[in-house]
Amino acid sequence: MAATEKVQPTLRTARLELVPLGPEHREHTMKLDMDPKVMKHVAFGRPFTEDEAIQVHTWLMGCANSVPGFGTWAGYTQGEFVGWWILGPIPTKDDPEKFLTDRTEYGFRVSPKFWGQGFAKEGAREMIRHAFVDLGLVEVIGETMTVNTASRAVMASCGLKHVETFFNTYPTPPPGIEEGEVRYSLSREEWFATQEAGASRGSDGKSWSPIMALSKLYCYLRKILR
Ligand SMILES: CC(C)(COP(=O)(O)OP(=O)(O)OC[C@H]1O[C@@H](n2cnc3c(N)ncnc32)[C@H](O)[C@@H]1OP(=O)(O)O)[C@@H](O)C(=O)NCCC(=O)NCCS
Repeated sequence: MAATEKVQPTLRTARLELVPLGPEHREHTMKLDMDPKVMKHVAFGRPFTEDEAIQVHTWLMGCANSVPGFGTWAGYTQGEFVGWWILGPIPTKDDPEKFLTDRTEYGFRVSPKFWGQGFAKEGAREMIRHAFVDLGLVEVIGETMTVNTASRAVMASCGLKHVETFFNTYPTPPPGIEEGEVRYSLSREEWFATQEAGASRGSDGKSWSPIMALSKLYCYLRKILR
């Protein structure tokens, strides 16, 4: 796929319209970042200050310039802001200014008003579909604090598997960091296998869409050409 085709698109699910994050969404992302409930297990474990929340919004928008197709999406349901979802860049080991182009770290933040209604999962699954089908990536990872059970549950419900627990030291560690952080991962092959299993379970007689068929062929070729 040519880089010019990898412009961040608007994405849709059953209930969400996911639009590329812009300056017009700043007040929404800031409200989330400055809410103690939302930030309990994120970053410093406390609400961001106004300045920090502005910086985060700028960083979230900047993701669209990191790797073609990556970015942050603001999610709306029936015209109301629900939260944001991200396909973010992973720095290379040698140079933190450079990014891997074949894998992404995804993430999400949902407004408490909408918690427990399946929105995080719905948006996150669309991020994964977009990453594998539209962008042709090979892996989606997610990281969170070990104690962030909600975030871990969302990742597990998207099919990601826990692959590592790690311990970093921070100048201002958030409460709970003693238990470390976890990394979850889902490969392209694993994702397509679950899609295939789901499709055959449904056994509705429908054939693969052209894009799914091409992606399956791509997986197969990668396996045998490895
Ligand atoms: C994590 C967060 C995005 C979950 O949002 P949500 O819309 O309530 O999640 P969903 O309703 O889509 O739930 C998805 C799954 O997670 C489970 N889940 C959600 N909240 C949970 C909780 N507090 N404890 C345990 N499981 C939880 C649901 O039961 C569901 O499981 P299922 O698919 O097996 O039924 C939301 O709590 C949030 O924004 N938290 C603050 C920010 C944050 O922690 N972001 C992640 C940082 S890495």
